[in-house]
Amino acid sequence: MSKKNDDFFVEKKPWSEVKDQLLGCYLKPYVSKILHTRKPLVYVDCFAGKGKFDDGKQGSPLIALDIIQQGLISSKMTGHLQIAAAFIDLNYADDLRVNLKDYPGVKIVSGAYEDKIGELLKNKGGCNVFLYIDPYGIKALNCSKFDEFANGQFNTIELLLNMNSFGFIREGCRVMGQQFKMDDDNFFDDLVEYDTTKLDTSDNSVEALNQIAGGDYWKSIIEQYLSGKINGYEAEENFSEQYCLRLSQSYTYVLNMPIRIHQNQHPKYRMIHATNHPSGCVLMANNICNRWELLKDIQSGGQLSLFQDDFNNQSIDESTLRERVIDHFTQYGTWTPLTEAEAMFYVKYGAICKSGDIANVLKALEKEGRLAVKRNPAFSEKTQRPTNFMAEGHGHTVSVKWVK
Ligand SMILES: C[S@@+](CC[C@H](N)C(=O)[O-])C[C@H]1O[C@@H](n2cnc3c(N)ncnc32)[C@H](O)[C@@H]1O
Repeated sequence: MSKKNDDFFVEKKPWSEVKDQLLGCYLKPYVSKILHTRKPLVYVDCFAGKGKFDDGKQGSPLIALDIIQQGLISSKMTGHLQIAAAFIDLNYADDLRVNLKDYPGVKIVSGAYEDKIGELLKNKGGCNVFLYIDPYGIKALNCSKFDEFANGQFNTIELLLNMNSFGFIREGCRVMGQQFKMDDDNFFDDLVEYDTTKLDTSDNSVEALNQIAGGDYWKSIIEQYLSGKINGYEAEENFSEQYCLRLSQSYTYVLNMPIRIHQNQHPKYRMIHATNHPSGCVLMANNICNRWELLKDIQSGGQLSLFQDDFNNQSIDESTLRERVIDHFTQYGTWTPLTEAEAMFYVKYGAICKSGDIANVLKALEKEGRLAVKRNPAFSEKTQRPTNFMAEGHGHTVSVKWVK
């Protein structure tokens, strides 16, 4: 395989399809919501690829541009709506220029994300920024850069990140002079790897992993794996959890989405959504649930499954959901915005249900006198009756407080 991994773009593989579907499905509601802030949107695809696969399928740049264009057309907002889209790629800027030629005004940047992103985001203070980060491997993912983005300069900042967590574990083993071996010899077969990251046992390599992970917590995970205390899947899960925790030092709402290639399989990698805005987190969680069927059927004749059965195919039973909602909402002993509490629920449990399902449980708890709810407007303008909505947005706000 060439250094550029050209064969990645020969044919769009199921896992690429999944990533792009997640992105596309989210961007639709995101763009329409963000336009209401009346602040410019800066969209950056940081590892953009060619724009289009050789089999004619759209890559992430075309998917995003179509959605942005549609969002602008269908927006009911008046006045000047500003969206700037930029696409960075180390190897394929020329292909991008050809494949994105029908979209005037987009910025194509030839070079490495880690060198170019600072300049691109300079003077974008006060904007809404969305970064799609879909590298081949882990090498370019310096965690302190993600911290920098979240330092309050932007109106909003969101990251959708493809984290090759198994790749990280493998490199972790390598820097400790050992080999990462999965019990399933065919583990990597259906996820062809395009990562050329190769580290060694030098201090520089250890430091490189510290930079990527945002700390050295990964070492003890690798040690546990190497000593046989945990298996490879547990190591990956522990690492992903710790990584999300680390990201949550800068982003309040970090959603960890395990991606499986076949049903009942262990995850192959993680998509991570990080934002400081609770409504973004709730939107992403709803998006995953709403698009579940669509995501499930992508290629592989419906064999491709993103989540465990109890995780996201709406089979989580009512009593488990009620238990979890009670467990979570009891912590809100003072008035808390509903969206904030819901976003934290998703951070804790993942995208296990739509926010409407949480709302139904909350309404029942309100009736039972266990949850106090403050709504604005408190009365319907039309009927003068007390309102009973359990969702925020469109001029409605809801605060909740646990009573007993
Ligand atoms: C997984 S592919 C992206 C696929 C794309 N999201 C899509 O759906 O079409 C990763 C891309 O990152 C590019 N790349 C590799 N290292 C890079 C770096 N340091 N900065 C920017 N781009 C890089 C590669 O040329 C490749 O096109």
